[in-house]
Amino acid sequence: MSRKKIALIGAGNIGGELAALAARHELGDVWLFDIPDKVGLAQGKALDLEQNGAVLGYDAGIKGTASYDDIAGADVVIVTAGVPRKPGMSRDDLLSINLKIIRSVAENLKSKCPNAFVIVISNPLDAMVYEMKKVTGFSREKVVGMAGVLDSGRFQLFLARELGVSVKDVRAMVLGGHGDTMVPVLSYCTVNGVPVRQLIPAERLNAIADRTRNGGGEIVKLMGTSAYYAPASAAIQMAEAYLRDEKRLLPAAAFLDGEYGYKDLYMGVPVVIGAKGIEKIVTIELDAGEKAMLDKSAAAVRELIEASKKL
Ligand code: APR
Repeated sequence: MSRKKIALIGAGNIGGELAALAARHELGDVWLFDIPDKVGLAQGKALDLEQNGAVLGYDAGIKGTASYDDIAGADVVIVTAGVPRKPGMSRDDLLSINLKIIRSVAENLKSKCPNAFVIVISNPLDAMVYEMKKVTGFSREKVVGMAGVLDSGRFQLFLARELGVSVKDVRAMVLGGHGDTMVPVLSYCTVNGVPVRQLIPAERLNAIADRTRNGGGEIVKLMGTSAYYAPASAAIQMAEAYLRDEKRLLPAAAFLDGEYGYKDLYMGVPVVIGAKGIEKIVTIELDAGEKAMLDKSAAAVRELIEASKKL
């Protein structure tokens, strides 16, 4: 059986970390793709990571390229192409710049990687993944956006620190759009089954939910560019669920066709990821406050998608 082929579009901060993780987890052979001006960066990172494999002892080929021919037939494609946020910039400010980039990437994936499971990370996420599906024409099972696993990870960390417990015991999901309107779902948030509302007073929970909503911006402010370790780990978790048919239930941006009352929209919802891609969109009951927040988030995403249609 030949190894799986993993194409990473964008060899920047997240792309490099994705390559490192894919190789360490031995998910397959990796192609780091970037524009011709940056092909040296892609090739240099690839060579460094192959040498890293000789030290650590993993079997994975890692190559850099600026040619779409090299990534033809990829099983998984993870897209980070675009520019990251700078301090003071919202994810939405990135819209017009990254939209052009995603359109050209999608055109190429359409002809070169027709069977791939495509995970989009580029921001503004919900608009970028919508565009990816629209231009490629791939099924909704095969085009997904990474945000929920990352935002939920941030939420879980802040809750664990508040309580002085291990991050391993905190389960939480963040749904909705990947922006200021995201919805940390408190009604399902537990510490090993114990509802978090029994453990943390409401006003502290609200403050933690707010910090989660600004979790990306907090890092941009500190280091002048957006996060990359946790975003890469989150996307690799999704890729691994697909490649190993794990059937993980994860929050991810999926194309909604009536689920939760929304249509023709990408937004974060619980999904099951296995060998068929998004095998199921799971509908959970939300309390009235959460549903109202989700409606608000859907409206914000809709606005972004309408704006991209005009660009
Ligand atoms: N095709 C392929 N790669 C491209 C293209 C393109 N058309 N245009 C730009 N790139 C590359 C850049 O050359 C750069 O190497 O995408 C890479 C992006 O890397 P970084 O600037 O380091 O950004 P990164 O931190 O990896 O974030 C990428 O993910 O989380 C989002 O907001 C973030 O949209 C941003 C994206």
